[in-house]
Amino acid sequence: MVGFCDSNVLKWAYDRLCIPAECYLRVLWCAAHPDAGLLATGSGMNTGPDPDPVDPIPYCVAGKTTRRHYVYLKCLVLVSLFVLLQPLAAFRLRPIAVEFARVRRLPLSHRCLNMSTTTTITAAPKVETPFTTGAIQQDANFWREYIASRPSPSEDFFRVIQDYHTSHGDPSTAIAHDVGTGPGNIAERLLRYYDRVVGSDLNQNALAAAPHLVAPDLVSRLTLVHSAAEGLADAGVVEDNIGGGGKTNLLTVSECIPLLDAPRALGAFRSLLRPGGTLAIYFYGRPIFTGGADPARLDALYDRIATRICSFLLPFKGTPGFPIHQRAAEALFSQLDSIALPSEEWADVVRYKWNPDFPLLFNSQGGYDFDLVYVDRREAGETTKEIHDRTWWQDEWDADRIKAYLDSVYPGYIAKAGDRYAEVEEGIEEFREALGGGAVPVTFPVVLLLATRK
Ligand SMILES: C[S@@+](CC[C@H](N)C(=O)[O-])C[C@H]1O[C@@H](n2cnc3c(N)ncnc32)[C@H](O)[C@@H]1O
Repeated sequence: MVGFCDSNVLKWAYDRLCIPAECYLRVLWCAAHPDAGLLATGSGMNTGPDPDPVDPIPYCVAGKTTRRHYVYLKCLVLVSLFVLLQPLAAFRLRPIAVEFARVRRLPLSHRCLNMSTTTTITAAPKVETPFTTGAIQQDANFWREYIASRPSPSEDFFRVIQDYHTSHGDPSTAIAHDVGTGPGNIAERLLRYYDRVVGSDLNQNALAAAPHLVAPDLVSRLTLVHSAAEGLADAGVVEDNIGGGGKTNLLTVSECIPLLDAPRALGAFRSLLRPGGTLAIYFYGRPIFTGGADPARLDALYDRIATRICSFLLPFKGTPGFPIHQRAAEALFSQLDSIALPSEEWADVVRYKWNPDFPLLFNSQGGYDFDLVYVDRREAGETTKEIHDRTWWQDEWDADRIKAYLDSVYPGYIAKAGDRYAEVEEGIEEFREALGGGAVPVTFPVVLLLATRK
């Protein structure tokens, strides 16, 4: 064990900082992902490296706040002593300090600590995983550019989700929960349909950026929760005072499911959703060029550059993160058919596939040092709808946008590329020339899984 913190101390500190009790933000001291070099548990000790690199364990309980101040002071003294005695404690308590500072920067409606937490934080091996590792240290600028470079789902797309939600199970729209919310870009879109939205993510830098990137008139209805998806069920997420008694009407997982331990995450999603609530998991892939003199050449050029970039990240095989790279690639190569939605738990499963003749994978096999395998866990009774629509999520992209997209898909790849980065620059210039210096229309392959919680 390397540390503890009685959160009543923090509560007391917040009281002294005059943050009104009615202003509420659940800050869940949930697992710091191994990517952050930290692992936390709520159950006491974690003395060795975590055997499962994607097994972040939540460690938060909402607690009583009625102790006398001398108890707080006593705890404060103990914490101070602890910090003095543990050479590494300052480093290991850093997430708490960062979170504390973050909450101070949030609008009043987003600030409040309501914790009674004993936490154990221990060093865990650093594991390289797709996207998450590269993004974990990035600041608000990365997330601003991320939002600008990524495709923006059309309103029609959200209407497909809403039509499903209102025609299956319980059509209430009190609360939605966006898992892997990152900078809150999709949570923001859900606020048009739901009274409140919870956005959760294990990346606290992304969560810290969210209040600055979500429209100011909407942000007061957004609650941010720092938690790994797999740990959401145990953490308790939504307090009664924002409705729902911890349960949600809609749960979305946008551009995130391949990064998760899907069976564990789905167990958590099921316990968060109200019976009759809707699960909406989706993922979009690479751009499909639909204009210009030679769209097929542009598709091939994109594929060549993206595959080369992925190869800069090798090796995957033989590294601690290999199983995660493998399962993420498997989910995308399988167009999310590898994501099982067992009929004992989920009803009315519909799998939409827009433009499925293009891969969801951002790059081809050549970017990997393992074989891609199509895994199909669909059950009898599910519906799969394939739609070929080359105007779906239509946008206009030029060479700079393609570069920005690649930068956001493979965060941190430039450092790994070293001198080889020149190849990417050459490829982008080739794009610019093929596009005649302008922009062309693009569309995307998109897979959306919809299900009703039984
Ligand atoms: C590609 S971003 C998607 C952001 C946003 N949902 C969107 O659609 O643009 C993936 C997000 O998933 C988060 N993520 C990865 N693994 C996670 C996990 N185990 N639990 C919760 N979030 C996770 C990452 O931190 C990141 O913010």
